[in-house]
Amino acid sequence: MEHIVIKGGHPLRGDVRIEGAKNAVLPAMAAALLAKGPTLLEGAPPLKDVEAMAEILGWLGVEVKREGPRTWSVAPETLSRLVLPEELSRKLRSSLFLLGPLLARFGEVEMGYPGGCSIGARPIDFHLKGLRQMGVEVLEETPVLRARVRELRGADIYLAYPSVGATENLMMAATLARGTTTIRNAAKEPEVVDLARLLTAMGARIRGAGSDVVTVEGVGELHGVQHRIIPDRIEAGTFLLALAATGGQGAVQGVVPGHLYAVLDMLHQMGCQVSFTRDRIHLKARGRVQPVDIRTQPYPGFPTDLQNPALAVLVKADGTSIITESVFESRFRVAEELRRMGAQVQVDGRLAVVRGVPKLKGTRLMAHELRGAAALLIAALSAEGVSTLEGVQHLDRGYARLEERLSRLGAAVERVNTLRVD
Ligand code: UD1
Repeated sequence: MEHIVIKGGHPLRGDVRIEGAKNAVLPAMAAALLAKGPTLLEGAPPLKDVEAMAEILGWLGVEVKREGPRTWSVAPETLSRLVLPEELSRKLRSSLFLLGPLLARFGEVEMGYPGGCSIGARPIDFHLKGLRQMGVEVLEETPVLRARVRELRGADIYLAYPSVGATENLMMAATLARGTTTIRNAAKEPEVVDLARLLTAMGARIRGAGSDVVTVEGVGELHGVQHRIIPDRIEAGTFLLALAATGGQGAVQGVVPGHLYAVLDMLHQMGCQVSFTRDRIHLKARGRVQPVDIRTQPYPGFPTDLQNPALAVLVKADGTSIITESVFESRFRVAEELRRMGAQVQVDGRLAVVRGVPKLKGTRLMAHELRGAAALLIAALSAEGVSTLEGVQHLDRGYARLEERLSRLGAAVERVNTLRVD
């Protein structure tokens, strides 16, 4: 059993380099299946989810190699299986990204339903509806999903919600389809744009990525390339919020500030002094944070993945904040843990009313999912006394050695291994 011990009350100081984006590398690894020849992905974050994706690809027979701590090569020519067992599919939500590329390239796939964080129902109907429009026959059986197609054909697809995953899956499928695919109400997230950049370098014909209409003209084949993953805006936001929560001062480096405008605006409203250059954002906290009302939204709105970390800061604000979660329906589970630290958070469905308190007190905390884990760590850093955080495996799915990097900024955090003797 691993847990993290946090002695709160140390303001963070200094600079931290941000890793590549988890949500960009996972679809990129799947996209590599579309190419004839190997693809080299650079700037991949050293995360458990990336290793899980590599394991899945390896199981399919793909040659996946870690060429360096942050570089992976994916050579799909040796692929020998089109069936993914349930326990592998369940390892991460992103196993779903295999659907588009495998159908486009090999016309067939059988897999278990994807897993992922417990933050809502997370249906996959938009993915399946779009694929069906492209001619795929999908059998939704329990516990597996079977899909096959003789030849994918371009289609005009409308997404009822700008789903990031569905936009990416359909964009990948469309690259090798016959004819043109139009995805309307497409997601505009930077990770969608990064995937389009990768696919375009591979030879795909894509227009409009980053806008709400993406058009893909199918081509005969794609080739392997070398691609650098964009920086992780969510990781950057998490560090900035940790700086704000502890009354600290410092910077995130190697970021694209333009990906974080909604977050920077919120930090500014909280009363923090924020400035940025081309690839660095500097933050200086100024006393107790001011309350802010937040509504999570698709990009370029405030990202749902930073809602919990922002909540963990606002629990100590000088006044009342209202947080509306409009993307995932059950993303306030962390409120219960925060209340045990003395926070005053009332949750009603997708709404949380946060009455700021001057102090939080350290306690024993349990994380249930990735971003909730980061939020609890932030709260513990700003609390009085010692906290222990359990459920660390959730944190490791999306943050690389977070406690080590926080301790370099002056936090008193330590990962502890305890042997349980029952
Ligand atoms: C991606 C991100 C995740 C982020 C989320 C929203 C990755 C690997 N993960 O997740 O970190 O929190 O975007 O920014 O990139 N929906 C449906 N049917 C579908 C698909 C989605 O109803 O077929 C709903 C979801 O339940 C949710 C909303 O659409 O309410 C947005 O989900 P989506 O954008 O698809 O999120 P993911 O791609 O799963």
